[in-house]
Amino acid sequence: MQTFLVGLCLFHVVFGLDNGLGRTPAMGYNTWDDFRCDNISAINVMRAADGIVRQGLDKLGYVYVNIDDCWAVGRDNKTGVLIPDPKFFPNGMKPVGDYLHSLGLKFGTYTDRGTLTCAGRPGAQGYEVLDAQTYASWGVDYLKEDSCYADSDDHEVAFAQYALMRDALNATGRPIYFSLCGWHGWYSPVGMSLGNSWRMADDSGYWGAVLTAMDTNSRLGPYAGPGGWNDPDILIGTSEKTAIHLTQDQSRSMFSLWCIMAAPLLIGSNVYDLNAFDLETFSNRELIAVNQDPLGFQGIRLFGGNLNTEHNPSVINIWGKLLSDGGWAVFFFNNGDTTKDMTCDSKCLSEMGFQPTDIIKARDLWLHQDIGTFSGSFTVSSVPLQGGSATYKFVKQ
Ligand code: GAL
Repeated sequence: MQTFLVGLCLFHVVFGLDNGLGRTPAMGYNTWDDFRCDNISAINVMRAADGIVRQGLDKLGYVYVNIDDCWAVGRDNKTGVLIPDPKFFPNGMKPVGDYLHSLGLKFGTYTDRGTLTCAGRPGAQGYEVLDAQTYASWGVDYLKEDSCYADSDDHEVAFAQYALMRDALNATGRPIYFSLCGWHGWYSPVGMSLGNSWRMADDSGYWGAVLTAMDTNSRLGPYAGPGGWNDPDILIGTSEKTAIHLTQDQSRSMFSLWCIMAAPLLIGSNVYDLNAFDLETFSNRELIAVNQDPLGFQGIRLFGGNLNTEHNPSVINIWGKLLSDGGWAVFFFNNGDTTKDMTCDSKCLSEMGFQPTDIIKARDLWLHQDIGTFSGSFTVSSVPLQGGSATYKFVKQ
């Protein structure tokens, strides 16, 4: 028995992620869908940070400023230390981090568990300890580790490589949020022991990928909670100035659902100067509160099935997220080609534990208005087509 207990204890010490971070999903900004590789530079990152502060996004919780791929060009021949691109980061990375910290923001960066990053920059394989120390010395607060140029199908290899970086980060003594990026749902069952979040789907670079991420994530809720989250990728806005954009309805639905799914909220848009619509989307305090709710419950699909499947795809879904005050945030989604009236019927309500006789108060989380009480069922009229939605909070009276 004693041996068993000691064994358990060691297991915890050696294999646990214990950095105290990610008690609620991370919020911030990521450069990838904004700049890709072309314009990633110290100046643009600092401008993005200025934009976050000027538009008050930091006050809403968006504090991580995460530099994605393409910042590094190689390693020092003698020491092996990573070399930032001298053209775009002329003073190195630490001054960028210092600037972010001076604004009260946090500094995130990017690597890969394989030999190279997806864009062919140096990967961490074999350099985990040195790189973790380097990041800590630059004041890094968040590290995303991608999975290119590595065996992406061998689960054990992937877990072992992520564990190496996790332990190397832990050993620095600096709390660094660790964000895994392996693009598969099979990370979720072990995610919590490895990192603070794990990408469980492909890049959300177009609408079909957003739907697939929803479908995949609908099965993965039980694996998420305070300390570790399923990551369905970066939020997409509507600005045509960025590499990727969605329609207004789609972008707002994505934001609503990411809040319901307790997903990290990392803006992948032109954050230096968001258009008015995107700023309003990302600034929805009521939905941010849903996302950051301390219970950390990942929302569940209450009605409908997979949306992006060849066999009988659903065109409507209803999702709900239990909140720490006992209420539920409820998301009505229409991916069909006509507007739809949608009903959460007695079965849908009972999935949330509501009884047929309960008097339930409803609040519209986009109009920011209480809209009265109901019991038995709840119908939303004219949910917009092709990715439109409506989101409410239900509380039993
Ligand atoms: C992909 C990753 C993206 C982005 C890109 C950079 O593998 O999923 O989020 O980081 O690499 O090259």
